[in-house]
Formats: sequence, C-alpha cells, structure tokens
Amino acid sequence: MAQTLTVLGLESSCDDTAAAVVQQSGVDRAEILSSIVYGQTELHSAYGGVVPELAARAHAEKLDQCVRDALAGADLTLAELDAVAVTAGPGLIGGVMSGVMCAKGICAATGLPLVGINHLAGHALTPRLTDAISFPYLMLLVSGGHCQYLLVRSPDDFTRLGGTIDDAPGEAFDKTARLLGLPQPGGPAVQAEAITGDPRRFRFPRPLLDRDDCNLSFSGLKTALLRQRDQIVAEKNGITRQDRADMCAGFQAAVADVLAEKTRRALRIYLAEGPSEITLAVAGGVAANTAIRGGLESVADEMGTRFLAPPLALCTDNAAMIAYAGIERFRDGACDGMDLAARPRWPLDNSSPALLGSGRKGAKA
Ligand code: KG4
Ligand code: ZN
Repeated sequence: MAQTLTVLGLESSCDDTAAAVVQQSGVDRAEILSSIVYGQTELHSAYGGVVPELAARAHAEKLDQCVRDALAGADLTLAELDAVAVTAGPGLIGGVMSGVMCAKGICAATGLPLVGINHLAGHALTPRLTDAISFPYLMLLVSGGHCQYLLVRSPDDFTRLGGTIDDAPGEAFDKTARLLGLPQPGGPAVQAEAITGDPRRFRFPRPLLDRDDCNLSFSGLKTALLRQRDQIVAEKNGITRQDRADMCAGFQAAVADVLAEKTRRALRIYLAEGPSEITLAVAGGVAANTAIRGGLESVADEMGTRFLAPPLALCTDNAAMIAYAGIERFRDGACDGMDLAARPRWPLDNSSPALLGSGRKGAKA
C-alpha cells in the first residue's frame, strides 16, 4: 500500500503567484487541502501584456505570504509535509527563479525533499488529480500561452502530437479584442460579442487544415480579421456594433472549427494505440469558451471518447496541479538537489520536432 504523501506546490512561471497543499493517502484520490492564487492582472493592465520584470518582483514579494496562506488553509506546518514541488520551467525566467529560490530556501531550512516540476506536466496531469483517470489519455492544452496535443502515458512520459507554430489561441482572442476595442482578457469579451453575431457573414481562414498533422496556426487569422476591419472602416468610415459582433462570431467559429478538426486527427492517433479507457481532457482558459468546448465535445462524442474538462480554477494556472505532479513524481522516485535550475524553455517531449512558435508568454515548448 502506497504511503500518504502531503506536498506543498509553488507556481510562479507567468502572472499568477500560487501555493497549494495536496495530499494523497495510499491509492485514494488526491485531495486539495488548500490552493491560493494571487493574480497580477491589475499590475500589468496598463501595458497590454505581462511585463516580465514586474511579474518577477511581484512573485518575490508575494511568495512567502502565499506559502503561509496555503499552510494555514491546510492547517499544517512545514514539519508535516513530505516534499516541496515547484515549477522549474518553462516560463518567464525571473518568475520561475523566484519560485525555485523560495522552494530551495524552504527545503534547505527544513530538510524536505525538493521536486522540480514542468509547468506543462502540471496542466497535463490535472485530470488525474480531479478525476483519477488512467493512462494513456489525450490532453489538449489551450490557453493564452499554450496550445498543444499531448499523449500522456505516465507522469513522465508525454508525446506531443502537435501544437501551435505561432500564437496560442487565447493570445489570438486577446489580440482580436484589442483590434475591435474590446476589454482584456479578450476571450470572454469576444465570446460575449459573438452571441449576437452572424458567424457566416465573414469567412475567416482555417489555417493548416490542408496539412494532415496536428499542428495549428492562429496568427494569420488575426491578420485576416485586421484586414476585414480596415476594409469596413475604409468603406463606411467606422464599424457598427453589428459589424463587430459578426467579426467576433466569424473569428470564434474559425478557431472552434480548427480545434475540432485537429482534435479529430489527434484522437485518431491516440485511438490507434488501443487505450483501455478512452479520454480526451482539456485544460487552459480557452477551454471555457462554449463554442470551442461544444465543438470538442461533439468530436469526442462522434469518436466514442469521454470528454473531460476540469473545473476552470484548475484549468488555469494554479499550484495544486504542481503539488499533485510533485506527488506523482516523488512516488516514482524523483528528487532534485540544490542545483535545480530554472528553465525558460523546457519541452515536455524532447523526441518530437520543436515547434516554430511560442505564445504571448514566451517560447514554451
Ligand atoms: O489558462 P489561462 O488562464 O492563462 C494562461 O494563458 O496561462 O488562459 C487565459 C487565456 C486568455 O488569453 C483569455 O482570453 C482566454 O484564456 N480565455 C478565453 C475565454 N476565457 C478565457 N478565450 C476564449 N473564450 C473564453 N470564454
Ligand atoms: Zn499554464
């Protein structure tokens, strides 16, 4: 019978400072004892994106308090923990270093083991934390910083079937909102506009559908939208609310179509492996989009696959996923020394060819 493990997780790779305590008793389902997230949206709002230096300083200032809050929330002391897990990359290097140094400080002072976690592995293992699903499963990460299909075979075995070669979808939603004078974050604003829009009025491109792989591209879509907007402005001297709603609906439909079709292809590859339980899981803020989610659900349905979307708070950046990944890795014997490095780039899958692009939050994988 596996022992009970209680792990503190730290996350600071982008614009959320987070700490959490997760516990797993034997083979039971893991339990989140606490999960604290200090966001930085306001800090960066005037700049139209995350400013790495500001983010790093804010992480360094908030991490100690965040850890105290997480321990208090779990009603535990450091002495009652079994290990400390920390995001060691990929991400904005200043933020990742803040987290890694905080974790090393705790481990040096207490003698607790240190486990460095890949942020993407944290996202990818979340469905095991929330629903205890078995390997292998297919994971689609869709957020402002990530977009990739991962075949998850074990806590340390990921095959990337494809991903974006330029922007992440959330980034494209955010840029679209900016082009149309809508507030940030752009995803929810574009979705709200799209409700009253006609998705057929403007036919935006469906990039890379002619290529029989699982790679995606979203930057051309944003350029097409910019051209369409400028054409309307040139013709009418401005855009009406209806023009804007129609552009949002057209853009959203294009993203949803591309993700649905590429998911169909990724599922075909996954199904060819003959998994015993067949699951497509999603993570990332974009998975909150109802049109996109609906498209993915129907593809999963059509292909006899269970569709799983963890609660939004666990789909977006958080430390519970890092603590949980720490439990899985620690159980498998993983443990890092004081030489654990913060890595701006850290592909989950070194065997697949590198993708050209990245995402708003820096080259990821
Ligand atoms: O996972 P997340 O909270 O943060 C990271 O990017 O790591 O994702 C945020 C992204 C933003 O780009 C936001 O515009 C997008 O997710 N998003 C959405 C929706 N809600 C959030 N995109 C489309 N539709 C939504 N309803
Ligand atoms: Zn993330």
